[in-house]
Amino acid sequence: IQNIIAVASGKGGVGKSTVTANLAVTLAQMGFEVGLLDADIYGPSIPIMFDVAEEKPIAVTIDGKSRMRPVENYGVKMLSIGFFTQPDQAVIWRGPMASKALNQMIFDAHWGQLDFLLVDLPPGTGDIHLSIMQALPVTGAVVVSTPQQIALADARKGVAMFQQEAINVPVLGILENMAYFTPDELPDNKYYIFGQHGARNLAEDMEIPFLGEIPLVQSIREAADLGRPAALQKETPSALSFEEATRKMVSQLVLRNTNLPPTEAIKITTMAGCDAVKKK
Ligand SMILES: Nc1ncnc2c1ncn2[C@@H]1O[C@H](COP(=O)(O)OP(=O)(O)OP(=O)(O)O)[C@@H](O)[C@H]1O
Ligand SMILES: [Mg+2]
Repeated sequence: IQNIIAVASGKGGVGKSTVTANLAVTLAQMGFEVGLLDADIYGPSIPIMFDVAEEKPIAVTIDGKSRMRPVENYGVKMLSIGFFTQPDQAVIWRGPMASKALNQMIFDAHWGQLDFLLVDLPPGTGDIHLSIMQALPVTGAVVVSTPQQIALADARKGVAMFQQEAINVPVLGILENMAYFTPDELPDNKYYIFGQHGARNLAEDMEIPFLGEIPLVQSIREAADLGRPAALQKETPSALSFEEATRKMVSQLVLRNTNLPPTEAIKITTMAGCDAVKKK
């Protein structure tokens, strides 16, 4: 796996999973080998967004060992806890069990050769985030935010988590989702429901690249519910906005890989707050 990109936000419901799904299919359409790990153990969205909720990864034998083969659709290989639970079954696990499940989806899976593995994180800055960064050398992070103040406050914390000295995962950029609403019948009108340019300004303030604006449009929501990410509908304004964001993300990744050494996975030493994580 060449590049591991974590998609995070801080605040919940700002569109991490929608953005991750669309970045993944855009990268696949550009010809890259793409994997998507749904790290939201308690609220997995990826199986529905890719219309594979009924599927199950099958076991394959690789070098004498049994491995699970990710489910694939639209050129994206996926693993999610959602493939192993019933639709109405809640996962009620303490942190260590969730970490174990994540580790199985990482180490007991046959991902094959990938240019990109995108990781759809749950909201917040908690246990799952640490588990992922402990298990994987995350190449870079993308932080998604809506332009409104209460989302930006959490996005700032999301960025700060990756930038913490002991974690040190380069932030490739901030992506503004639900940047403005445009109704189908008035395509030239933009309504700044959540405020204007909030995430762009945050990126400037934190000296982090700005990866672009994704509009709030009904078809993006419908596409997610139908299991066919909006970016697959080429040449539409939504697909073009995801394409631009993907291009910006890839160029930031190239810069990052040219200028910085590979990320090291973090090592958890104690459970005392910020001192809990140290470099190996
Ligand atoms: N650009 C958009 N236009 C229209 N609807 C959107 C857009 N982005 C996300 N949505 C919708 O907003 C809701 C929340 O999106 P999503 O589930 O991707 O957020 P999330 O950050 O992953 O949430 P969670 O924190 O629960 O994981 C969903 O109903 C989704 O379809
Ligand atoms: Mg989500």
